[in-house]
Amino acid sequence: MASSDFGLFMGQLLRKPHQVVALAPSSKGLCAEMAAELDPAKGPVVELGAGTGNITQAILDAGIAPEACHSIEMNPEFCARLRARFPGLNVYQMSAGDCGDLPVEGAQAVVSGLPLLSMPTQLQRDILTGFTKLVRPGGDYVQFTYGPKPPVTAVVREELGLTWRKSGKIWWNMPPARVYRFTQA
Ligand SMILES: C[S@@+](CC[C@H](N)C(=O)[O-])C[C@H]1O[C@@H](n2cnc3c(N)ncnc32)[C@H](O)[C@@H]1O
Repeated sequence: MASSDFGLFMGQLLRKPHQVVALAPSSKGLCAEMAAELDPAKGPVVELGAGTGNITQAILDAGIAPEACHSIEMNPEFCARLRARFPGLNVYQMSAGDCGDLPVEGAQAVVSGLPLLSMPTQLQRDILTGFTKLVRPGGDYVQFTYGPKPPVTAVVREELGLTWRKSGKIWWNMPPARVYRFTQA
């Protein structure tokens, strides 16, 4: 990651702490785990809360073409950086709560860097309902969390019939995190 990206991230964290909600951009190890099950043969990928693009980079490193990656980010400074850093990437400056409106069908996964646990239940519901519209059957909603519990609240999991798998702890991240993969049963 370029030091200018780190500076941009920290500047936006100071200005918009309730949107960024992370001490630092995700580490290489965490980003690699987020993208570990992606397969270029299995269709497009939707990314939520792309920030300065560390997870985006891991998605492209997994072989997904920029044109097959659809990244949502609400912060205009981050969107400008994503467009400059990744030519061909589809960047949407919008709220992830409207992700179900994207012109994407049959995505293999939605990969989220959003601060989901700090969001109101209705916004979580909108995001996860959008996920169920975007992915093909069996597609994953991939989300990291720093806490001990699943990052989607129980009420939304139950409403949408979501089951999950979780990774081991990724210690080399600030703070250490786990990756959850939710699927609609
Ligand atoms: C924890 S940062 C993660 C950034 C990057 N993906 C990473 O892992 O380093 C959360 C990102 O989600 C964005 N964000 C927060 N709420 C959002 C929303 N409702 N819609 C779209 N983006 C949102 C923030 O602007 C920020 O870039």
